[in-house]
Amino acid sequence: MIRLSQISKSFGEVQVLKGIDLTVKTGEVVAILGPSGSGKTTLLRCVNYLERPDDGVITIGDFSVRCREVGKRDIHQLRQKSAMVFQHYNLFKHKTALENVMEGLVVVRKTPVDDAKKRSIEFLKKVGLGDKLDSYPSQLSGGQQQRVGIARALALNPEIILFDEPTSALDPELVGEVLEVIREIAKEGITMLIVTHEMGFAKEIANHVLFMDGGNVVEEGSPDDIFNNPKEERTRQFLQRLSREVSTHSSINLVATGDENHG
Ligand SMILES: Nc1ncnc2c1ncn2[C@@H]1O[C@H](COP(=O)(O)OP(=O)(O)OP(=O)(O)O)[C@@H](O)[C@H]1O
Ligand SMILES: [Mg+2]
Repeated sequence: MIRLSQISKSFGEVQVLKGIDLTVKTGEVVAILGPSGSGKTTLLRCVNYLERPDDGVITIGDFSVRCREVGKRDIHQLRQKSAMVFQHYNLFKHKTALENVMEGLVVVRKTPVDDAKKRSIEFLKKVGLGDKLDSYPSQLSGGQQQRVGIARALALNPEIILFDEPTSALDPELVGEVLEVIREIAKEGITMLIVTHEMGFAKEIANHVLFMDGGNVVEEGSPDDIFNNPKEERTRQFLQRLSREVSTHSSINLVATGDENHG
């Protein structure tokens, strides 16, 4: 279980998170939608303490930190409980796929090298990259790089995986393979928080959907509530805009999302 309570964050004078509350039960998938600049990435980064919240309480499992009075040790402990999958993969360019996955295990988790290697190979195989262990990011497609990013997160055995628009940097024809991997992980009951604009995908895998705007949660509910019966005008407008964008995109994109989401 993860619970965020009144998380707030400002950059200088600008408050980008205005007291966010959110509970994600174990095994649940929560999708976050919202316009650019609404604070989605900042929220995920706060959960992982890549960004330091100004106020609020973060609870993951049986561990809680009060952001106002947090110490270095707490941060270290909290970070072990989540793993992030980034929009732009964030792989080390001079390391192979295998080395990228091993890095966090060896350096942060202090896992012995042999165990880390075994575990990393296992997860790279799981995301379909058993034959790319020794490839460098420049030798991999975007979809393959993102799957390395997912293997890296899984290998850490976190209580929750945080996905920040995992497919938005990909060419349309590569979106499907990454969504497929995420779909498989969701089936295994791994708790996840996923920022995505893939509406069909969110409908399919999310238990709960959150719509953010201007640093607030404007509306939340089941996928059916949010996608089929949004109550707030801002949610309606956003969804309309999103579906217009999807329908004016290339036909490849439509095929990729359509097939993947309803097949
Ligand atoms: N390190 C930073 N320093 C200053 N301002 C920042 C920083 N990071 C984010 N911001 C600002 O905070 C606001 C929220 O940004 P954030 O990246 O969380 O939005 P987002 O919802 O993820 O948007 P997008 O959909 O474009 O990814 C924006 O106005 C952004 O400019
Ligand atoms: Mg973002």
